[in-house]
Amino acid sequence: MASQNILEFVNNFKREKGLKQLFEIVLDHTIKSLNKENEFRVSLTLVGLDEMHALNKQFRNIDAPTDVLTFAFQEADDIKVDEFTDLGNIIISPEIAKRQAGEFKHPYLREMAFLFIHGLLHSFGYDHMKEDEAKEMFELQNKILNSLPFDFYTDIKKVKKLLKEAQNQAKATYSNFKVGAVCLTKDNKYHIGFNIENAAYGLTMCAERVCLFHTYALGYQKEDIVSLSLITESNNIGSPCGSCRQVMLELMDENCPVHIFNNDLSKRLDTNVRELLPFAFTDEELKA
Ligand code: THU
Repeated sequence: MASQNILEFVNNFKREKGLKQLFEIVLDHTIKSLNKENEFRVSLTLVGLDEMHALNKQFRNIDAPTDVLTFAFQEADDIKVDEFTDLGNIIISPEIAKRQAGEFKHPYLREMAFLFIHGLLHSFGYDHMKEDEAKEMFELQNKILNSLPFDFYTDIKKVKKLLKEAQNQAKATYSNFKVGAVCLTKDNKYHIGFNIENAAYGLTMCAERVCLFHTYALGYQKEDIVSLSLITESNNIGSPCGSCRQVMLELMDENCPVHIFNNDLSKRLDTNVRELLPFAFTDEELKA
């Protein structure tokens, strides 16, 4: 469902592809994670190093640029402008984000998302001046970032090529319906799978499960898996069968991204494991 939250994207910086969409996802996800009922509006500005330096000097008396600045309206929940709650302004330096992403060896967009979440938490009154406050804020920040429905790591171009290769290897002897799958692991390796059918039809194994079992057989575990991608021979975006969804939930993290393509790769659905199997039966049930 489209969110009602508003992101005013004041982009002084050069236009960067996909950034607005990412920030909208971050805004909605952060507000959802904080269990807020209202609809919010926030203004986000990307500035160059000099401008960030000047702002940091003027407002915090620090003579250096910084990564993110938040000008929050105090007690955001109480301030209602029209039907929206105004959170204030968040200012980010993409250049510093780029530098920090390099230092931490993670993708630039992940750093940008992290900084925006940090700014948003400030605008909701979170702070990191005192130790216990900082612990709470940083834990929350990580939780929001790690459950963000956005895949920072998968190289979609590479996945498309591998999906076609995997699909071509399918042993779809009886159905003639070839399915390919690709699993990315944290060491940046891609592992393929495809459906393998049998004359005793019920013994057929779907591409998703072959792919995940293959990955596990190589020694990888649940926490190593970054994403699973899938292609079927349908003109529409396919859908993993119920058995595969159950296996995916057991062998992958519930927030793990799943990308589903149609046969000519012109359509793509980005979803995740939990979204594919709500109200699932899990090992929690066995313990209860
Ligand atoms: N199949 C998959 O490999 N994955 C799916 O998500 C759906 C179905 C395979 C199983 C069988 O070999 C063929 O497609 C027709 O059902």
